[in-house]
Amino acid sequence: MAKQSVLVVEDEELMRSILRRLLEGSGYNVFTADSSETALEIFPGNDIAVTLTDIKMAGMDGLQLLDRIKAADAEAMVIIMTAYSSVDSAVAALRKGAYDYITKPFVNEDLLQTVRNAILQRELFHENRALRRELNKQYTFTEIIGQSESLQKVFSVVQKVADTNVPVLIQGESGTGKELVARAIHFNSGRAAKPFLAVNCGALPESLLESELFGHTKGAFTGAIAEKKGLFRSASGGTLFLDEIGEMPLPLQVKLLRALQEHEVTPLGSSSPVKFDTRIIAATNKDLEAEVAENNFREDLFYRLNVIEILLSPLRERRDDIPLLVRHFAAKSARNQNTEEKNVTPHAMSALLNYGWQGNVRELENAIERAFILSGDEIDVESLPPRIRSNAEHTFPAVDTAAFRPTLEETERQYVMKIMADVDGDKTEAARILGIDLSTLYRKLKRYEDI
Ligand SMILES: Nc1ncnc2c1ncn2[C@@H]1O[C@H](COP(=O)(O)OP(=O)(O)OP(=O)(O)O)[C@@H](O)[C@H]1O
Ligand SMILES: [Mg+2]
Repeated sequence: MAKQSVLVVEDEELMRSILRRLLEGSGYNVFTADSSETALEIFPGNDIAVTLTDIKMAGMDGLQLLDRIKAADAEAMVIIMTAYSSVDSAVAALRKGAYDYITKPFVNEDLLQTVRNAILQRELFHENRALRRELNKQYTFTEIIGQSESLQKVFSVVQKVADTNVPVLIQGESGTGKELVARAIHFNSGRAAKPFLAVNCGALPESLLESELFGHTKGAFTGAIAEKKGLFRSASGGTLFLDEIGEMPLPLQVKLLRALQEHEVTPLGSSSPVKFDTRIIAATNKDLEAEVAENNFREDLFYRLNVIEILLSPLRERRDDIPLLVRHFAAKSARNQNTEEKNVTPHAMSALLNYGWQGNVRELENAIERAFILSGDEIDVESLPPRIRSNAEHTFPAVDTAAFRPTLEETERQYVMKIMADVDGDKTEAARILGIDLSTLYRKLKRYEDI
């Protein structure tokens, strides 16, 4: 592990050298400054983990230095050194955001312990931020990858409906990203801080599904040893995702319709209905209109759920998304395994472009995950599953390989959006990394909206 750097700011030369020896002896990289002014020159650009500063100094004092450092980096760790007689000013320093203070003279071990704690605290800050960023990224648009016209339409519908409360019905073959879209709607809505709960309507027997959804009172039936709220109420304020809605038994469809109309449910064993405020998103891989025609699905419920309809087309019908998805999943594998990213050879890419993808994006994701593990420095055609390797050239007409060479503008857009995601949407920081003015960044972002 790289050495952590500590900056010591102290106007007494003897004290400076004592601190230098103590800290270097404990494995730190030490910078020293004899004034706040010098410290402010050292601080930027040296990745200082902890600043240890005296309070009383000629010129700018330790408290003013603290202000300046905190203004430059709100997460900076500053420890104040003060004489026992002026603990008051140390308390003032804590109020201004110092991490801790130590009184002079100090016990060496105490000082080292305080520095260690500060470093630990700083690492926790950074870890938390990284985790938060991961969480945010998981469900935002940046994680639904695709440039095809059909997916662009989906994006715009998601954006428009997110903040309304109308029911949404998402239809598409297995693995096309229905759940991903449902989450995107939820996490881009005002309900994002409230629960997103999902239930697979095809996975539970009718009676169990009924009590899952609508809840039951204590003793409502044998085995109902405690009251159960039910998903409609548990997700209140948030979103309930009814997956495989086409599998819902007809008697429950009646109950569901009533719940949607009245915005209330009556738990099993109870006679009094309870209100809920839950957004409903349903999904199915069946052709629900055909199910209606065959009397397997209630027409009135279909229209209730289908206020907004989102159709996710099969991957084989939007092949221009394949190269982006391939790169996305390869990068994800690299992240998961903590290794370098790998290139995909043109031959492998052409096999991927030509395959049938009956399992849609999920099948592609699995194929790339596997290929990433099996391949050497590059993902080549040999690392792909045999069915993809062998069927490739014949099953579908070959796609012009030029089609997956993005334009300069597209490449720029992707890079800019990647940086935006990396910095949590902080435009000032993104502009700094990209080396452009904030106004230029704004202009670019505005233009990408129109692409
Ligand atoms: N456009 C996309 N960009 C990135 N990842 C995607 C995309 N579409 C799907 N995926 C990924 O593919 C996998 C399958 O997606 P998801 O579970 O949303 O599909 P589904 O339509 O709900 O499938 P099923 O009908 O089988 O439940 C998930 O890991 C999801 O993250
Ligand atoms: Mg699903």
